[in-house]
Amino acid sequence: MMEVFQTVDDLRQARWENPTKIWGLVPTMGFLHAGHLRLVEQACEQNDRVGVSIFVNPAQFNNPNDLEKYPRNLEQDLDMLKQAGVDLVWTPTPQMVYPASYQTYVDVEQITQKLEGATRPGHFRGVATVVSKLFNVFQPTRAYFGQKDAQQLAVIKQMVEDLNFNLEIVACPTVRESDGLAMSSRNANLSPTARQNAICLYKALTAAKDALLSGQQSAEMLRHIMTEIIESTAMTQIDYVSVAHPQTFSELEKVESQALLSMAIFVDGVRLIDNILID
Ligand code: PAJ
Repeated sequence: MMEVFQTVDDLRQARWENPTKIWGLVPTMGFLHAGHLRLVEQACEQNDRVGVSIFVNPAQFNNPNDLEKYPRNLEQDLDMLKQAGVDLVWTPTPQMVYPASYQTYVDVEQITQKLEGATRPGHFRGVATVVSKLFNVFQPTRAYFGQKDAQQLAVIKQMVEDLNFNLEIVACPTVRESDGLAMSSRNANLSPTARQNAICLYKALTAAKDALLSGQQSAEMLRHIMTEIIESTAMTQIDYVSVAHPQTFSELEKVESQALLSMAIFVDGVRLIDNILID
């Protein structure tokens, strides 16, 4: 039976009812889709019990309008999680996570300065802080994160190593719609025409990947290929287009072996991100 709690005390009590069980945690901001469910599925396969958090974390939104527009549907989320076989769900209020007296934040330094960190100041500070709190509340053996947010995954791994969190981070591949669009809660904010145009992210990434695999090693050329495809699509505005080192997130000049092709694009005002990792 799935249990749903709001307070830290209730959640902790349920978590420790049977201390010998191995717990997996899937942190989310809700408005769940098949990408989230893939993480949940993997967590169910690898652990005795699975916990999910649903919390739209104000600390990681650098834009109040974006926070307000973030899609929510708790009833539907809980139905999906029940179906998926989840044991425990935490749905705290912002006041429970950040009471008026709150004053502690987690800052991961270098890798948060690039890409998402550069264009969304304070974003990763909010992510690292809330994820630290989730780890302390659930104390999971494993926690599941999507490759869709490649930099977030790297930030969390760095934080776990630096702060000696006693758990394993498991990375899950990006789940896509049949036309290639990466699943995202934000896709719900796209009009039908914008949804069509949003295919340009995956188109651009695969075009760059194909060029790379057929020998194009110039990162500038690869960025150019992606930029052209985005710019020739209506309703789009580029936030960044990147060919970077997958561990440091510094822009590359020449692609030798590994590269992270990534981008953040506004489609009709909705900010979408996507990436392909070349190994
Ligand atoms: P959210 O965007 O809800 O995503 C929750 C988890 O699902 C993240 O690990 C994300 O990478 C993963 N995910 C999202 N779309 C995916 C897709 N198409 N394929 C595979 N995995 C996907 O990321 C967050 O929330 C927040 O920053 C959070 C970590 C919960 C901290 O607030």
